[in-house]
Amino acid sequence: MALGMGSENPAVLDATSPDTRARVMADSRAALDGIDHLIVGAPVHMGKIPLQAQECLKALRGDGRECTAIVVYGTRDYGAAPHQMMEILSKDGFNVVAAGLFIGQHSYSDLIPAGIGRPDKSDIEKAIGFGARISSAPRHLTAKDVPAHIDLLSRSGVYSVLKPYYDEERCLHCHECAKACPFALISPDTDRYFSEAAERTCIGCMACVRNCKTKARSTKANPIMKLILTMSLKPGSKDRKEPVVVV
Ligand SMILES: Cc1cc2nc3c(=O)[nH]c(=O)nc-3n(C[C@H](O)[C@H](O)[C@H](O)COP(=O)(O)O)c2cc1C
Repeated sequence: MALGMGSENPAVLDATSPDTRARVMADSRAALDGIDHLIVGAPVHMGKIPLQAQECLKALRGDGRECTAIVVYGTRDYGAAPHQMMEILSKDGFNVVAAGLFIGQHSYSDLIPAGIGRPDKSDIEKAIGFGARISSAPRHLTAKDVPAHIDLLSRSGVYSVLKPYYDEERCLHCHECAKACPFALISPDTDRYFSEAAERTCIGCMACVRNCKTKARSTKANPIMKLILTMSLKPGSKDRKEPVVVV
C-alpha cells in the first residue's frame, strides 16, 4: 500500500514486537514523528481486534494526521473489526481517508485449510493499486462507511479458543518461538512458557507455530473443537474472498 502511495522506503512500526508497543504507548507522538500518513493494520480475532492491539491503537495520538485503516482476516468473517478500528482511530484524532479488509492465511490453517497462501500475488497487486488511490482520497471516513458483521461472536468476550501445543521431543531449542511471541511469554532458556500466568496470557495467535521449523509447536484441537472449527471455517474458505477497499 505504501509502495502504491509512492513511498519506496516507508517507516515501519512493527506492533507485534513488545518493545515497539511499549515505545508507542509511552510516547505516541515521538513514535509517529516524521510519519505523514499512517497505515494501520491489525488481525481479526473472533470477529474483533485483539484486545492488546486495541490497547496499543488507543494510545496513538493522530493530531489530524491522515490514516488508512486495515484489518486482515482469515476468510471466515471480519465481524465487527473494521468498525472497531475506525472508531478507535477516529477517537485518536486521525483523519481516516481509506480503509481495507484484506485476507491472510488463517492462523489455524494447519488444522483446517483456510486462506492458504494469502496474501498472494493478486492480493499484493490489489494492495498496491489501493495505495495509488489513497493519495487522492478526498473523503473523511467514519465507522458507518466500512462494512461490518456485528454477530454474536463479535459481540462476545471470546478472543481465543486454542493455545499452541508443544512437543519437546521435536524441539531443536533454536528459540525462534520465543523471538516470535508478540508478548514475550516463552523463555529462551527452556522454550516453554515462563510461568502458568504467561500461559494464561497467551492469546493463541500461533506466531510460535508459524516460526517453528520442526513442528515442535503445532496447532492441535480435541475432536469436538476440531468439529466446531471445521464448521465455522469451511464455509468461508469454500469460495475465494477478495479484499474490499473503501476510499
Ligand atoms: C485467536 C484467533 C481468532 C481468529 N478469528 C478470526 C475470525 O473471527 N475471522 C477470520 O476470518 N479469521 C480469524 N482468525 C484468522 C486471522 O484473522 C488471520 O489468520 C490473520 O491473517 C492473522 O494474522 P497474523 O498472521 O498476523 O497473526 C483468527 C486467528 C486467531 C489466532
